[in-house]
Amino acid sequence: MSLSIVAALAEAKAALFASDSAALDARLLLCHILDCPPAYLHTWPDKTLSLAQQQAYFELIAQRRDGHPVAHLLGYRDFWTLRLAVNNTTLIPRPETELLVEQALALPLPEQASVLDLGTGTGAIALALASERPGWQLTGVDRIPAAVTLATANQQAHQIPNVTFMHSDWFSAVESQRFDLIVSNPPYVEDNSEYLIQGDVVFEPRSALTAGHDGMDDIRQICAAARDYLSENGVIMFEHGFNQAAAVADCLQTHGYRQIRHFNDLANLPRVTSAIR
Ligand SMILES: C[S@@+](CC[C@H](N)C(=O)[O-])C[C@H]1O[C@@H](n2cnc3c(N)ncnc32)[C@H](O)[C@@H]1O
Repeated sequence: MSLSIVAALAEAKAALFASDSAALDARLLLCHILDCPPAYLHTWPDKTLSLAQQQAYFELIAQRRDGHPVAHLLGYRDFWTLRLAVNNTTLIPRPETELLVEQALALPLPEQASVLDLGTGTGAIALALASERPGWQLTGVDRIPAAVTLATANQQAHQIPNVTFMHSDWFSAVESQRFDLIVSNPPYVEDNSEYLIQGDVVFEPRSALTAGHDGMDDIRQICAAARDYLSENGVIMFEHGFNQAAAVADCLQTHGYRQIRHFNDLANLPRVTSAIR
């Protein structure tokens, strides 16, 4: 049976009625199947899908209806200026993490700064920083070997030379070196958070999300260890939950960091905190 673009989109939207992003998801997935830019769908609403395209499209729509993240179905997510491959071994990069990238780029660091990204996942933060600052030398680490493989594939796809990815449990494999900047978007969700049973996070690994009863276990661990890896006046910068700024500041103060600053997201909530060694 022939099915036009406009009819396929209508059918998909109806199937995804439970999602608040049904229309967008339907368009993104159809562009993926037709290998076309979004404007094509508007320009050629009456073009018909082949049977194979219809079948592939409605298989994706069924998976989306079952809750699979669009990024997993497409195999990528755009972050900063980069299209990054994603999979179920780590977090899908979030737009809010771009706040950390922005604030890191605004720091008055040396032109050849050394920067460590703890819990690099897809490599999102390290690759964004490295692409903007070719003189910086980035190291990205993750405890999940498959995430390190993914980050390395993203690095190769974008041919960004000034990053090294490696497998490490926080600092365990990091040579005793001093960094000008340590950044991290670590796991920070409370173990029993309601957020863990909603939306995309259901399909993301707990190893990327949770950190103890108050979500602070990893931040505490990093705060304690990072001083030995920061240069004099080196900066540490975390992404954290909207309600964790005070706890992160306490933790940094306890470990002797100074000039603690919070940065708010577009909803005016403090989501990034930095301090100086
Ligand atoms: C919230 S995700 C952030 C991923 C990526 N940086 C981003 O912003 O999209 C946290 C990452 O930390 C990694 N991780 C968790 N515990 C770790 C540990 N002990 N050592 C190194 N990485 C760890 C997870 O595997 C995951 O990739």
